[in-house]
Amino acid sequence: MMFRKRRSPVLFPAAALGAAAFARAAFRALRRLDMRGRVVVITGGSRGLGLLLAEEFGRQGARVAIAGRDAGALDRAEQRLRALGIEVHAVACDLGDRAAAEAFVDSTASAFGRIDVLVNNAGVIQVAPMQDLRVEELDEAMRSNYWSAVHTTLRALPHLQKQGRAARIVNVVSIGGRVAVPHLLGYNASKFAMMGFSESLQVELSHGARGPRVTTVIPGPMRTGSIYNAEFGGSQEREFGWFGRLSSIPIATIDARRAARLVVAAAREGRAEVKLGLSSHLLSWAHGIAPQTTVRLMGLVNALLPAPRGGEGTTRGRDLRTSAQGSVLLRLSNEAARRNNEAPPAAAR
Ligand SMILES: NC(=O)c1ccc[n+]([C@@H]2O[C@H](COP(=O)([O-])OP(=O)(O)OC[C@H]3O[C@@H](n4cnc5c(N)ncnc54)[C@H](OP(=O)(O)O)[C@@H]3O)[C@@H](O)[C@H]2O)c1
Repeated sequence: MMFRKRRSPVLFPAAALGAAAFARAAFRALRRLDMRGRVVVITGGSRGLGLLLAEEFGRQGARVAIAGRDAGALDRAEQRLRALGIEVHAVACDLGDRAAAEAFVDSTASAFGRIDVLVNNAGVIQVAPMQDLRVEELDEAMRSNYWSAVHTTLRALPHLQKQGRAARIVNVVSIGGRVAVPHLLGYNASKFAMMGFSESLQVELSHGARGPRVTTVIPGPMRTGSIYNAEFGGSQEREFGWFGRLSSIPIATIDARRAARLVVAAAREGRAEVKLGLSSHLLSWAHGIAPQTTVRLMGLVNALLPAPRGGEGTTRGRDLRTSAQGSVLLRLSNEAARRNNEAPPAAAR
């Protein structure tokens, strides 16, 4: 009498999953870009995530170009990168200005002879109820967060296209480009524009045969220490208080060094999208399946935040005098601010 061997019902799906994971890893490895000798342009590489990205790309053998408006911060960043043995081209300029952004790209191509990767990272953030934001602030958000990326991308594109599929464009957007976060009207609007720009580039460049490959980065809150360079309006100290605390909670935020490693890995593999941190994953998922419920939820969060005061302009986090800066709850952000060239005030312990 013959007995048939019974196969376990979980064996086939497990084998299929294993084969799919193997094929995915092999595909990524094939696409992985060797950074040695490449030229990486990073907008706003003078501090925060941009500086960490410059270090990470540099450690992997790339030459980097960085830009920022504050010449002092840029100079410190340049010295720090050189001390790590990284070749740097640094230009102090306002990338919201088209001529300045184009000159930055042109001077990088002249200095290094090529451009392989463009990282659109420059950004500003203003935290205030919408009634306390003026048109000037909304305009500044569009200039620094959106137009800077448009100007540098269009100017760098001919250089990138010479490298074909080996070239990369990395757009650092935000979860604020998927879900409207309360008290960030100008920021959200500029990041929604940036999301449209990035996905349009993907449609027309990544999925054709010629490239470059485009990566859309969607970070949730990151512990970069940028709270001291963010602008606060309305009840400024109270706005700093909630935003500063939110930017320091470990589970809700991602360490900026880890974020930089993930962005560089995604760029090397030419991945289409990378979400950074639990908040980004959860909110993207919620907005994907129930957009209006997510908007309503954000409305409830808004009701918990400080009320509008009637527009008196904004103040930088580092220029505020508030005990929140020294709070133990901000410890992680304060450490990050010191590490990442964010010039925190003396009160930030
Ligand atoms: N930190 C977060 O929680 C978070 C979350 C989601 C997304 N993001 C995004 O991630 C990126 C980096 O954030 P971060 O926290 O590292 O910010 P950050 O520390 O404030 O750094 C921003 C960088 O952009 C530069 N920059 C801004 N506007 C510029 C302009 N018009 N021209 C030239 N340079 C300009 C700044 O230099 P100057 O000011 O000297 O010009 C600085 O180097 C931003 O796009 C941000 O929106 C951040």
